[in-house]
Amino acid sequence: MTKEELVALARQAAQNAYAPYSGFRVGAALLGASGKVYLGCNVENAAFTPSICAERTAFSRAVSDGERAFQAIAIVGGKEGVLQDFCPPCGVCRQVMAEFCPGTFAIHLGREDGKISSFTLEELLPQRFGGENLR
Ligand code: THU
Repeated sequence: MTKEELVALARQAAQNAYAPYSGFRVGAALLGASGKVYLGCNVENAAFTPSICAERTAFSRAVSDGERAFQAIAIVGGKEGVLQDFCPPCGVCRQVMAEFCPGTFAIHLGREDGKISSFTLEELLPQRFGGENLR
């Protein structure tokens, strides 16, 4: 699976975004170690705090299916679904990535013009707090 293919799947996922409050539609495609891809979109709520980001939707789907190791994630997002800029993952989603993924985990951000900006989890969340800190 290429990063271009993963971004295309994230764009597909963004079409199901439920974002009536922000109008900001996000899609994520998470590639498991098994090769299976889990899609996620943001799902907002009138009470705001129960809203969930696309990335965490994808992780929840994967873990619920028994997958706990991952290769990469692609993320796209934009106001009214226009993917003008890259959509970097929020801090809470970075922390969820850190729960399941090593520092080498690849994060691909896609944009309307086809450009892809790639990072590792180590780059986006250095000095991570994790389970080993609780030992
Ligand atoms: N959002 C995501 O789904 N992922 C991100 O990485 C950034 C933000 C969602 C949450 C909310 O529904 C909307 O985008 C605006 O913040």
